[in-house]
Amino acid sequence: MLPCSAAFVALLAALPSFVLPAAADSSSKRGLVFTPNQTTRADDAIWVQKPSDLTWYYNYKPEPESGFQDIPQSEFEFVPMLWGAPSSLDDTSFLSTVQSLIADKGINITHVLSFNEPDGPFAYGGSNIEPSDAAQVWVNNIIPLQEMGIRVGLPACTGGPGGLPWLRKFLSECSKLVSTGDNTRNCTYDFVTVHWYGNFEGLASHMGEYSAAFPNKSMWITEYNIDNQDLQTTQAFFNTSADYFDRLDFVERYSYFGAFRSDVSNVGPNGAMLSADGNLTDIGAWYLGRQATGVPPTQGSESWGFRSAVPPASVALISVWFAALLVGI
Ligand SMILES: *[C@@H]1O[C@H](CO)[C@@H](O)[C@H](O)[C@H]1NC(C)=O
Ligand SMILES: *[C@@H]1O[C@H](CO)[C@@H](O)[C@H](O)[C@H]1NC(C)=O
Ligand SMILES: *[C@@H]1O[C@H](CO)[C@@H](O)[C@H](O)[C@H]1NC(C)=O
Ligand SMILES: *[C@@H]1O[C@H](CO)[C@@H](O)[C@H](O)[C@H]1NC(C)=O
Ligand SMILES: *[C@@H]1O[C@H](CO)[C@@H](O)[C@H](O)[C@H]1NC(C)=O
Ligand SMILES: *[C@@H]1O[C@H](CO)[C@@H](O)[C@H](O)[C@H]1NC(C)=O
Repeated sequence: MLPCSAAFVALLAALPSFVLPAAADSSSKRGLVFTPNQTTRADDAIWVQKPSDLTWYYNYKPEPESGFQDIPQSEFEFVPMLWGAPSSLDDTSFLSTVQSLIADKGINITHVLSFNEPDGPFAYGGSNIEPSDAAQVWVNNIIPLQEMGIRVGLPACTGGPGGLPWLRKFLSECSKLVSTGDNTRNCTYDFVTVHWYGNFEGLASHMGEYSAAFPNKSMWITEYNIDNQDLQTTQAFFNTSADYFDRLDFVERYSYFGAFRSDVSNVGPNGAMLSADGNLTDIGAWYLGRQATGVPPTQGSESWGFRSAVPPASVALISVWFAALLVGI
C-alpha cells in the first residue's frame, strides 16, 4: 500500500519536529562520569533508568558500582580507572583487580582509563604524579592489560598548559623503561583522553592541539563543561559540543561532567544535570536522549541560594581543574 494518502501527508505536515533531528540528538558515544553524593544516593538510579543514551560509565575507581552490577556490561560498560600512583610504585593491585573482575566476576572489561589529571594538584582533584613515577606504574599495571587485548587510554591531563608537556615526558620516560640496549620501544595506547572546562572555541582548539600532538589517535572527552555561566550559554555550549563530538569520527566517546545536583556543583549550578531537588534538568534529559523537562537547575534551592564556585574540601574524587583560571573563558 502506498503511504501517500492525504491523511499521511497531513500527519507529516502536523509533526515536523518529530521528523527533524534535534540539535542535541541521541548518541551512542555518551557515558556517565559517576560522582555520587552520600546524602542523595537515591539519585544514582536516575542514570540507569530507561530510555537512556548512556552506553558506558566510569567512577574514578578500578571496581564497578555495586548498584549497577545487575546491568549487563554489554549494555552499560564499566571502564575501570587507575586514577593515581599507589604508595609503592611496584604495587600491581590495579592490574590484579581488573584481572579479577574478568576472571572471577565474569565482567568483560575491554577498556581501561589510566591516570586522572596527573598534572594537577590534589586540591583540585588531580593525582599530582611525576611523569617518571607514572611511567613505572604504567609498565607494572597497564602493559599486562594491553597484552590481554584491553584498550587503554593515555592519562587524562587537565585542560591547562601543563598537560601536553606532562604527557610527552611520561611517554619518553615510559619508552626508557621498555627499551633495552639497542632495542628501542615505545609505550603504546589506544586513545587519548581529554578534559576541558571553558567555552566551545577553547574546547575545539584544545582538541586540535591533541590531534596534532597524537596524530591519528581516537579521542575520548572524559570530563568537560563550560563552568559558571548563565543557563542559555551553558545549554548552547552543551548542544554545540555534543553535536561536534557526534560528527567527528575520531571522537569515540564522551562524558559530560555534570551528573550531580546543582546545589553541590563545582562547575556552577547551570552545568549540573540535576536540579537542587534531584530532577533532571533540560541538559540532563537531552544528554540521556530525552525531551527537555523544563526543570530549572535552581528548582528546590530557593530557600538558601547558591554558594560560590569555591569547591568544597571534599572534592577529592571530583577532578575539576578550573582551566578558566589558566586560559580564561
Ligand atoms: C553532598 O551533598 C551535601 C548536601 O547537599 C553537601 O553538603 C556536600 O558538599 C556534597 N558533597 C560533595 C562532594 O559534593
Ligand atoms: C567482550 O566485549 C567485546 C566488545 O563488545 C566483544 O567483542 C567480545 O566478544 C566480548 N567478549 C565476551 C567474552 O563476551
Ligand atoms: C617512538 O616514538 C617517537 C616519538 O613519537 C618516534 O619518533 C619513534 O620513531 C618511536 N620509535 C619506535 C621504535 O616506534
Ligand atoms: C594518518 O592517517 C592518514 C589517513 O589514514 C594517513 O594518510 C597518514 O599517513 C596518517 N598519519 C600518521 C602520522 O600516521
Ligand atoms: C539545544 O537543543 C535542544 C534540542 O535538543 C533545543 O530544544 C534547544 O533550544 C537548544 N538550545 C540552545 C541554546 O541551542
Ligand atoms: C522533582 O520535582 C518535583 C516537583 O516538580 C518534586 O515534588 C520532587 O520532590 C523533585 N525531586 C525528585 C527527586 O523527584
